[in-house]
Amino acid sequence: MEIPFAESYRIKMVEPIHRSTREEREQWIKEAKYNLFKLSSKHVFIDLLTDSGTGAMSNRQWSAMMMGDESYAGAESYFELKEAIEKILGFPYFLPTHQGRAAENVLFSTIVKEGDYLPGNSHFDTTKGHIEYRKAHAVDCTISAAAQTELELPFKGEVDLEKLEKVLANNPKEKIPCVVLTVTNNTAGGQPVSMKNIRDVHNLCRKYDIPLLLDSARFAENAYFIKTREEGYADKSIKEIVREMFSYADMMTMSSKKDAIVNMGGFVAFKNEELWKRCQMFCIMNEGYITYGGMSGRDMAALAVGLDEGTQFDTLDTRIRQVQYLAAKLDEYGIPYQRPAGGHAIFLDAKKILPQLPREEFVAQTLGVELYLEAGIRGVEIGAILADRDPETKENRYPELELLRLAIPRRTYTNNHMDVIAAAVKNVYDRRESITKGYAITFEQPVMRHFTVELKKL
Ligand code: F0G
Repeated sequence: MEIPFAESYRIKMVEPIHRSTREEREQWIKEAKYNLFKLSSKHVFIDLLTDSGTGAMSNRQWSAMMMGDESYAGAESYFELKEAIEKILGFPYFLPTHQGRAAENVLFSTIVKEGDYLPGNSHFDTTKGHIEYRKAHAVDCTISAAAQTELELPFKGEVDLEKLEKVLANNPKEKIPCVVLTVTNNTAGGQPVSMKNIRDVHNLCRKYDIPLLLDSARFAENAYFIKTREEGYADKSIKEIVREMFSYADMMTMSSKKDAIVNMGGFVAFKNEELWKRCQMFCIMNEGYITYGGMSGRDMAALAVGLDEGTQFDTLDTRIRQVQYLAAKLDEYGIPYQRPAGGHAIFLDAKKILPQLPREEFVAQTLGVELYLEAGIRGVEIGAILADRDPETKENRYPELELLRLAIPRRTYTNNHMDVIAAAVKNVYDRRESITKGYAITFEQPVMRHFTVELKKL
């Protein structure tokens, strides 16, 4: 008999989680104004809000924490991290920040001005927020196929080169501080970008003399998909693929809370010494001195180990197979989601599940509340609430897709939990026709409203 697949780790420490009753959840979600971010985590049974900072660190990472050097300047942990970033990612210069959006802040404070254009593939919401807050434009050049959830494409997160070239050709070079390539493409469903597309974007950037920024939160998952799906890469190691990916980039921003499997941390890295020096001022002003930025020594030490472990094939294989295990269950039940399954999450297609709801009633949010009520599972809306209002017209923006993201934390839940999630989604799907009313906003912030929005049931 063939030996089945099993996780490449065993578990040394556990953390209890609690079930609740539907009546309790009805009360809690009402008190949270139907915003899943406002729930207390103790009222959540399986938390799929994000895979960011919610993973389980390894024994090697925890032991590195004990060795952290907390010196204000020139800490040993800084040099360990510097060595890991140079060796694994190929960037000689970097600034540590407290997380990914802080890396964006340090970089964009230095290079983005009002009226600039930053084309890319579905900028993540904090990236877009940092661009639009500076009155610059995040131009989405993702391939149109990404919006057709039933289409199975191996690299559905890619840049449409024609769309990108139009932006580069029609604007003066001084107005384009960089192209932002997000790997994997979170917003489009955790979908990867092929090496060929990264290379083609790099070549276009060279042609127009524009720097290329890789938003790298899930770079290792992207490398796994290149290895398993792109011709010519099957025999290369993840680390070799990662080195090639970053060989095409001039700079990278990193939320270390994802593929580097730490609970907090990030950095911005550069090939160019001059730019690194220009960014130092904003790092010192907003984060901290250049050898710790927004991180404590122990966190930098754990991150250095996380970069190594996160780029090991077994770590990635275990992780992505778990997401695919959940996807296979959902296939069995006929549930529509962004196909193929993403690296870090399943994105349920809420418009297909609840076609009767008008978009003004926030379709994906409604599905998210229903899933919480069903089994205490917390996902996150990737739809009209997240899309915010248009900064100029102040009208609601309605994206083509209304998705409910179920993000799977790394090394945290077992496949029994995946079975619970799939069953809960099926139960909601089976009673989908009885869900006829959504929600209306009663309070919102002007930017990134989804975190704090308050809703009422219609
Ligand atoms: N870029 C991407 C592609 C991201 O997914 C995130 C965060 C960031 C940048 C910002 O990093 O959170 O460390 O400040 N994504 C999380 C998520 C929050 O749930 O997908 P951060």
